[in-house]
Amino acid sequence: MKIGILKETQKGEKRVAISPNIAKQLASKGFELLLEEDAGKTSSYKNSDYKEVEVKVEKRGVVFKESDVLVKINPFDEEDLKLVDKGQILVSQLYHKSSPELIQAIAEKGATAFSLDAIPRISRAQDMDVLSSQSNLAGYKAVILGAYEMTKIFPLMMTAAGTITPSKVLIYGVGVAGLQAIATAKRLGAVVEATDIRTETKEQAESLGAKFISVENSGEKSEGGYAKEASDDYKKRQKEAVDKSLFQADLVITTANIPGRKAPVLITEEQVSQMKNGAVIVDLAAAQGGNCEVSEMSKTVVKNGVKVIGTTIAPESVSTNASELFAKNIYNFLNHLTEDNQFKYDVEEEITDETLIVKDGTIRKK
Ligand code: NAI
Repeated sequence: MKIGILKETQKGEKRVAISPNIAKQLASKGFELLLEEDAGKTSSYKNSDYKEVEVKVEKRGVVFKESDVLVKINPFDEEDLKLVDKGQILVSQLYHKSSPELIQAIAEKGATAFSLDAIPRISRAQDMDVLSSQSNLAGYKAVILGAYEMTKIFPLMMTAAGTITPSKVLIYGVGVAGLQAIATAKRLGAVVEATDIRTETKEQAESLGAKFISVENSGEKSEGGYAKEASDDYKKRQKEAVDKSLFQADLVITTANIPGRKAPVLITEEQVSQMKNGAVIVDLAAAQGGNCEVSEMSKTVVKNGVKVIGTTIAPESVSTNASELFAKNIYNFLNHLTEDNQFKYDVEEEITDETLIVKDGTIRKK
């Protein structure tokens, strides 16, 4: 079976779906691989790195024509679909719930499509979970971005010229990105606080050295490892519990996310106006509307001396590592779906059922 690795065309994207190292592992399992010329260039992988591991480097049209399976990170777009043939298998993130037209277009092509962002958050799917592998890097990069924009350093420093007190970092959302943000900020020497709607995250935050700010939870539940939307009452209580820390923070990182929904607003413009002059907010949920009322996607906004960074490209900016992890996720996913390098899956098995969005032109999931 031939796997075609496509070059990402989305603006700002620097990752590639399969790295040379993982291409080698797939080749050793009997898969043939084709790479669209220069697909790995912005992740630091040269065409020759792929050729060394027996990957054929070809022009875009040839990769589409010859591959049985086409892999990408970002959703297939209109231009890609013009080149897709009946019977081909597409593997990428598809965000199918919010892109019905794309799913319809794939179905009209008679193709089959698996969506990597639909992988369920269950233990046995952890090694295929692209959202987690990328969010982990986003959490790390959010701290680095924040540190770069701050006018203060993170650690306590006792010098002959005086003592510098450590910076205060506040993290909203103790999921994958939040946990890595806590770990990174702690490693750099900051005093870290964190809050989350899921009470079970308290122990995890504390185990990494953060102080957890508990908000009385009146029955807000989680579902499949993800939070459900908070009530207005919860938001009010959260504000009361967190405001003191927010107004003293030097860096705030927001990661609160509810799948398939607009991100919850956790920091209002009014709250921003009470924050310290020079404070920085890194809003990782900017692409979903933002956790901070004033954040703008892909922009840095300055409000009353507070810098609000609405980043959307945290994993892309560490594309070498991000591609390597994404590739390993795809490798594990393909292993799950194939036997002797041929597809052999049970549509009723949970991981397959959740991710198989279109099968031979028929839409299975909306
Ligand atoms: P996650 O689902 O693991 O974590 C989100 C956390 O927010 C959960 O622990 C959840 O309980 C919490 N949360 C939800 N509503 C809340 C509320 N009202 N108050 C407090 N906590 C609340 O998500 P993950 O994987 O950590 O991703 C975090 C965010 O980062 C997402 O918005 C994701 O889309 C974004 N992301 C952004 C990237 C970028 O480049 N900007 C890259 C990767 C992820």
